[in-house]
Amino acid sequence: MIKYVQEQQLFHLMTPNTSYVMALADGEWLGHLYYGPKLDDTTGMENAFRLNEFPFSPKVNERDKVRFMQGFPFEYSFYGTGDYRESCLGAENAHGQRGVELTYRSHSVIAGKVVPEGLPHTRGCEDCCDTLDLLMADDVLGLDVHLLYTVYKDLDVIVKSVRVVNRGEGPCTLTRVLSGQLNADPDSAEVLTLHGSWGRERTITRQRLETGSVSAESLRGVSSAEDSPFLAVLSEGTTQTTGDVWGMSLIYSGNFLAKAQIDQIGQLRCVIGIHPEYFAWPLAPGESFQSPEAALVYSDEGLGKMTRTYHDLYRNHLIEKRWLTQDRPVLVNNWEATMMNFNTDVLIGFARSAKEAGIDMLVMDDGWFGHRDDDTSSLGDWFVDEHKLEGGLKRLVDEVNAMGLKFGLWVEPEMVCEDSELFRAHPDWRFSLQGRKPGALRQQYVLDITRPEVWDGVYSQIKAVLSSANIAYVKWDMNRYLTDVGSLEREPSCQGQLLHRYVLAVYRMQAQLLKDFPDLLLENCSSGGARFDAGMLFYSPQIWTSDDTDAIERLSIQEGTALVFPVSTMGAHVSVVPNQQTGRVVPFNTRAKVAMAGTFGYEMDIRNMDPEEKAQIPGQVAQFRKIHPVNREGDYYRIASFRENHTYDCWMVVKKDRSLAYMTYVQVLAQPNRPGVRVRMQGLDPDAMYEVTCDYDGAMAARNGESSIGPQTTRSLGCFNGGTLMKAGIIVPRVRGDYQALLYEVTKTEG
Ligand code: DGJ
Repeated sequence: MIKYVQEQQLFHLMTPNTSYVMALADGEWLGHLYYGPKLDDTTGMENAFRLNEFPFSPKVNERDKVRFMQGFPFEYSFYGTGDYRESCLGAENAHGQRGVELTYRSHSVIAGKVVPEGLPHTRGCEDCCDTLDLLMADDVLGLDVHLLYTVYKDLDVIVKSVRVVNRGEGPCTLTRVLSGQLNADPDSAEVLTLHGSWGRERTITRQRLETGSVSAESLRGVSSAEDSPFLAVLSEGTTQTTGDVWGMSLIYSGNFLAKAQIDQIGQLRCVIGIHPEYFAWPLAPGESFQSPEAALVYSDEGLGKMTRTYHDLYRNHLIEKRWLTQDRPVLVNNWEATMMNFNTDVLIGFARSAKEAGIDMLVMDDGWFGHRDDDTSSLGDWFVDEHKLEGGLKRLVDEVNAMGLKFGLWVEPEMVCEDSELFRAHPDWRFSLQGRKPGALRQQYVLDITRPEVWDGVYSQIKAVLSSANIAYVKWDMNRYLTDVGSLEREPSCQGQLLHRYVLAVYRMQAQLLKDFPDLLLENCSSGGARFDAGMLFYSPQIWTSDDTDAIERLSIQEGTALVFPVSTMGAHVSVVPNQQTGRVVPFNTRAKVAMAGTFGYEMDIRNMDPEEKAQIPGQVAQFRKIHPVNREGDYYRIASFRENHTYDCWMVVKKDRSLAYMTYVQVLAQPNRPGVRVRMQGLDPDAMYEVTCDYDGAMAARNGESSIGPQTTRSLGCFNGGTLMKAGIIVPRVRGDYQALLYEVTKTEG
C-alpha cells in the first residue's frame, strides 16, 4: 500500500510487515526517513531530518547550502553540488561540466508494475502490487528523473528503479544512474556480501563497518564469480533467526556497484546499480534511460526471513511462472566425463545407461560443433561436426528421444575463436580497441553483439541448430570476462554505452530464444557460476552454480547462493571421485544428498561406473523427485553452517503448508569421543505431530559396526511434536568417517 500524507508531504510505503518512509524537506528535497518494522502512524517523523541542527535547509540558511547537501539523508542522491558521499545520479552538460540537483515535482500511484523495457524485471499484476512514480527534476540540465517504487501486497519487498528523461533542448551525458539507495539505521554495523572466485563462488563474507566503506563490485562485464550483485546491512550479531537485516539485490547481469558507506557524521548510506566506471550514456533531447531494478528486503527476524522473502519474490515474480510447478528434468551431462572427446556412439551409450537409471535427459556439452577437439577453435561456428556426430544432430537426438530421454545442448553464443569460419569471414566482429589486438582468454574473444549484424549472424545460427532437432534444454555458457570493450563502428561519445548495451543484447537474445522455442528449458552458466544473478533468472529458471562439483566445497557455495536465490535455481550434479577440482573422495551417497539441494543430475561416465554405485542411482532419482517439489515451492531454512562451525552443515526445506519437510545433515569431519549433535528444526507447525524418519546409508552403518542393512534403508525415529522438534530438537548421531550425509523426512501425522 502506498500512502501520501499531504500535511507532512510524506510518502509511506507499506508491505505486510514493513514501512518505508520518505518526505519532502522545504517542499522540494526528498529525504529518507525510515525503513523497518511496520508503523501505524507517521506523525512527527520528519523531525528525523534534524533540520534545526547542522543541516539547516537552504531556505533557512542559503549561505551554507553545501552543509545541507553534505549531510541531508537524500532518498536518491546526486553528484556535484555538495553531496560528497557515493551518489546515485551524475550527469554532464554539453560543456562537459558535471553537477546535478534534483528537486521534487509531482507523484502518482499506478496499479501494478511499470515494466522496464528491455530489462529483466519482477512481474506483478494490478492485484498484487502498486507502483509509486515520484518525479524529480533538474531544470538546468532539463532532466526528469522518475523514481519508481513497486510495493508488493503479499511480500516484504520494495522494488526500485529509475528512469531519466531528457526533456531539455540540449544533449547531456549520464555518468552514473544507480538503481537505488538505502539509508539504514546507524547502529547497523555489519555488512554482508557474497564474495568469491572461480570455483569458490558466493562465499558469505561479513565485516564490521565503523568508518569508511565496504563494496561489492564487478568491472568484468558480467556479474562475476568474484562478487555478487547483492549487499546486506545487519545489526551486529545478526543470526539466521534474530537481528535486523536490510538486503539489496540487483536484477542485472553486468558491471555493478553495491556499496555501504558511513559518512563523516556517522550516517550509513548504501547504493546499488550499474557500476559508474566505464559508463557514460549520451542522452539526446527526448531520449530516456532506464536503470535495472533493485529489490530491497527488510527482515526483523534475521537472515533466514530475508532469504525466504527473496526466494518468494524471485520464484513468484521473476522466474517464468511455469517453472514454479513444472518438474525439472534429472540430467546426465557428459562434460566432466569426456570433455570434448566424444561421438554419437559414446553419447548413445550414456543415454542407454541413463535410461536404465531413471534419468530424464542427456545433455551434450562443449565440443559438438565446427571442428572443436580442444579449446583452440570453432566458437562462432554453430554447425555440427559430422566427424563426431555421424549422421548429424537430428539422428542422435531422435535416437535418444526414442529411448524415452530428452536431449539438451550446450552453446556459447557470445564468443568467437580466431580459428573459426565466423572469424575468418568477419574478423572485425569481436570487441577491440583502436590499434590494439584484443586479449584472448581460453583462446576466445567476445563478439560485439551490440551491433545488429553481429547479433543476427550469431542468433540465426543458434536458431537454425535448435530448429534442426528436438532440443528440450539449452545450457548457455559464457567462459570469459570482457576486455577491449570498444566498437570500431560507434561514435567516440557512445563507447561508454557498450558494456550496458552488451548486457541488453544478451537479454534480447535470450528473450528471442524463449519466444522462438517457448517450451525450452534454459540453464545459464559462466565458467561455472560467474553469471549467477537475478537478471539471468528472468530467462533461465536454473543456473550452473559452480564448476567446483566437490560436495564438501559445494556446501559453502550453495549456502551463499541460497542466501538470496531459490534453491530450485542452483544447478548441482553428482560427479566422480577423486573430484576433478579438489582431488577429494566423498561417498556417493553424500555427493547425491548435496546435489539434491538444487536441480539434480550426474556429471560422470555413467556407462562405466562402479556397479554398486550405479545400482543406487534409481533410488537417488526417486528421492530427488520427492524432495524437488518441496525445494521448488517450499521454505528454506539454514540450520547450521560448516563454514562457521567447521564440523557439520545442515539445512531444511519445508512445504508451505508445513505438512512435509526434509532436513539434510552433513557431518564433514568425524571426531572421536563426541556426543551426537542436537539439531533444532525450523518452520514446522508447533501444534502438529510429525513422524521423523532418517535415510541411512548402508556403508555408513557398516562402519558403525552394524550388521549389513543393504545399500540404503530408512529408519523411523518415532513421532514428535513440531514445537518440540523446533525447541528441543533431535540428536543426530555421530557416525564414523568424514563426509557423511543423513537425510531426515519429517511428515505431519493425521489428527
Ligand atoms: C564451463 C562450464 O561451467 C562447464 O560446465 C562446461 O560447460 C565448460 N564450460 C565447457 O567448455
